[in-house]
Amino acid sequence: MSSEKPILSVRNLQIAYQTGKNSRVVAADDISFDLYPGQSMALVGESGCGKTTLGLGLLRLLPKLGRIPQGEAIFRLKDGREVDIMKLNEKELREFRWTEAAMVFQGAMNAFNPVIKIGAHFADTLRDHSAKRLSRRDIEKRATELLHRVRLDPQRVLNSYPHELSGGMKQRALIALALALDPQVLVLDEPTTALDLLTQRGIVEQLHDLRQEFGFTMIFVTHDLGLAAEMADRVSTMYAGRIIETGNAEDIFYNPKHPYTAGLINAVLPVQGDIRNLSSIPGSPPGLDSLPKGCTFNPRCDYATGECRSGIPSLETLVERGQGLSHTVRCLHSEQVEFRGRMNADA
Ligand SMILES: Nc1ncnc2c1ncn2[C@@H]1O[C@H](COP(=O)(O)OP(=O)(O)OP(=O)(O)O)[C@@H](O)[C@H]1O
Ligand SMILES: [Mg+2]
Repeated sequence: MSSEKPILSVRNLQIAYQTGKNSRVVAADDISFDLYPGQSMALVGESGCGKTTLGLGLLRLLPKLGRIPQGEAIFRLKDGREVDIMKLNEKELREFRWTEAAMVFQGAMNAFNPVIKIGAHFADTLRDHSAKRLSRRDIEKRATELLHRVRLDPQRVLNSYPHELSGGMKQRALIALALALDPQVLVLDEPTTALDLLTQRGIVEQLHDLRQEFGFTMIFVTHDLGLAAEMADRVSTMYAGRIIETGNAEDIFYNPKHPYTAGLINAVLPVQGDIRNLSSIPGSPPGLDSLPKGCTFNPRCDYATGECRSGIPSLETLVERGQGLSHTVRCLHSEQVEFRGRMNADA
């Protein structure tokens, strides 16, 4: 699965939103990770922890008040050159998006322009971003091929307005559109949220097949741990804007070493579990404008000591496996964290 060099190497990335003339909130901080070609990485964590912000920031798609004061994201282009996404100018960004990395936005319901037919969305994207000049026939051929791949009826979909499609159809059409220019990296923000269970299943299977077929590297944002367990090779847990643990899916689900990750997993109902065994994490995540001192999780943590209140722990490597496969955690007491094996359904 992995090759020698990462396709994306993020270091100390910080993303903030300007909230007033002299005020801002930092929504993602000190983000570092490596992603290798073909890997599928899940970003998990509670609502508001900064998942969407990070996904958008990586493609420089932040809303107007979003800022990236620090950090770099080195991306290896199709031609082998390495660029820092954070340093691309507008023209370079236009060439980068869609052809090198594409995003499927959170909320399929609103991601299409409601007054434009799906066919015109494909035409605009392919015309604006393709290196080659494409004829109408080329565009129609490509759109048809892509919609077939996501098991939609191309003629019907291309001639429809977004509101004429179901949520699941829209999500499939969005995925097809994101793949139009064969990007190396696909960022999907909550690809199955707000869809019914059977439709979710269909999308998951579809993504699995598309990955086999197109071979893209994937970052997907979700608060659904089951989805992460099923689709990810790598999982990063976020809490209050920071990645607090990263590992292979097995590390995270069977041997989590951050108390927050362990708490999240213990709050999920296993397939054959007893609901009485479920536990929640006491308290709620802090507001970004009033983060606790030290480790931001310390007020909710059973393991917290005085040390945890004095400094923010750095992301330490617990198991070094190289090639972007290591297990890292941001906790001073990770060796004490005991996990009851909830994902094993044996609790
Ligand atoms: N345009 C904005 N201006 C100011 N703050 C923002 C803006 N967008 C997001 N935020 C803040 O940044 C933080 C992270 O938000 P973000 O949407 O990235 O979280 P998330 O993890 O994707 O949540 P969810 O699971 O609900 O989608 C939140 O506290 C949010 O209030
Ligand atoms: Mg979000």
